[in-house]
Amino acid sequence: MNETTPFDFAPLFAPNLPPPAAKWNGFAKYNFIGGHNDADQLPLGGLIKAMNDVLTREGRTLATYGVASGPLGYRPLREFLAPKLKRTAGITCDADEILITSGSLQALDLVNGILLARGDTVIIEQASYQGSLTRLHRLGVETVGIPLDGEGTRMDALAAALDGLKRRGVRPKYIYTIPTVQNPTGTILSEARRREMLRLAMAYGVPIFEDDCYSDLIWDGERPPALYAMSGHGGVIHIGSFSKSIAPALPVGYIVAPWPLLARMLALKTDAGSGSLEQMVLGEFCPAHFDAHVPVLTRALRAKLETLMDALNEQFGTAAEFEDPKGGIFLWVKLPDPVDTLKLFAPALAAGVAINPGAEWSTDQSYGKSRTRLCFANPSHEAIRAGVAALAEVCRREFGVPVRIANVERRASG
Ligand SMILES: Cc1ncc(COP(=O)(O)O)c(C=O)c1O
Repeated sequence: MNETTPFDFAPLFAPNLPPPAAKWNGFAKYNFIGGHNDADQLPLGGLIKAMNDVLTREGRTLATYGVASGPLGYRPLREFLAPKLKRTAGITCDADEILITSGSLQALDLVNGILLARGDTVIIEQASYQGSLTRLHRLGVETVGIPLDGEGTRMDALAAALDGLKRRGVRPKYIYTIPTVQNPTGTILSEARRREMLRLAMAYGVPIFEDDCYSDLIWDGERPPALYAMSGHGGVIHIGSFSKSIAPALPVGYIVAPWPLLARMLALKTDAGSGSLEQMVLGEFCPAHFDAHVPVLTRALRAKLETLMDALNEQFGTAAEFEDPKGGIFLWVKLPDPVDTLKLFAPALAAGVAINPGAEWSTDQSYGKSRTRLCFANPSHEAIRAGVAALAEVCRREFGVPVRIANVERRASG
């Protein structure tokens, strides 16, 4: 080795690292991936005022870790959340049963950190959040996928899975569910199914991990109580986030759990407190403005969803199947069986259209293969229409479907 030879870190890398991240080359022209939100609905004026007010009043607390609120997070934000969770989700908790996290991704890591070891098994919805699936795979945890229908997770399948695992002597570490506007299917688990899930979880001695990060984005605002609220025996951990209701680039999430569990998670938290500016601005903005902001946002999201569903009907006809979701920012679309969305991804991107292939959002590759998740929140109405038209053109070129484009039947040769 001499001074001109670049140092080679590769032989020193820890074993079992995930594949390296791809370099970012800017957003696609028609961007249907990720969980970005609608820039026009960002409550920017209110956030600027909140930031100014809170820093003017108490900015000097930034000189201490935890801004004089302790390691659970900025106290006014936790004091906003406790009654808000009671009002919207029926959850009874106090501010000291809430841990603020760096996005709900950190909440996932902390819950996984206290419960999971290599070789464990967890139960998860057959279609689920990629960030949760990749974490479980990286931890060497076996996932058992439960199919969903229009009402969310199927309880007959959950009962069968729990029974099958018990017969094999396996006690799953938790049931992970996104019950209220599921990612990616957009379903809301009915109250009756919630009761049944809690009954099964109790009968088999398995806790429930409830991820409720889309629950504010419901078109009619109606939702059943959280599993956390309905549980009589406490075996539920609840997480949520401001990423979807305010802004993903203000990554502030939270965990609701009894103190003995939060105490174990705090011992694993790696960042000596989540970003205080984000917490302070939300703690200042939300008590006065959150309830008025949410319906404005959901109305705009619903309008974009309608544009997307209309564009799919126009461009794909019956080749694109989907259920009208109850809220959220995603449409889960089934394309004809010959379409492999993992293979559609690259040519679509070359045509400027970014889509999430269904296999990456599923425990079952064959179920996910011809499905795709489209996020409609960030592109404009015009970009949604043009992007779907471009996607249909690429899909027809690569897979021969949709045969019909823009309601014009193509001749077999065309
Ligand atoms: C179900 C679910 N959980 C957690 C997250 C992580 O969100 P954040 O870390 O931005 O709060 C996401 C993001 O898309 C999600 O869809």
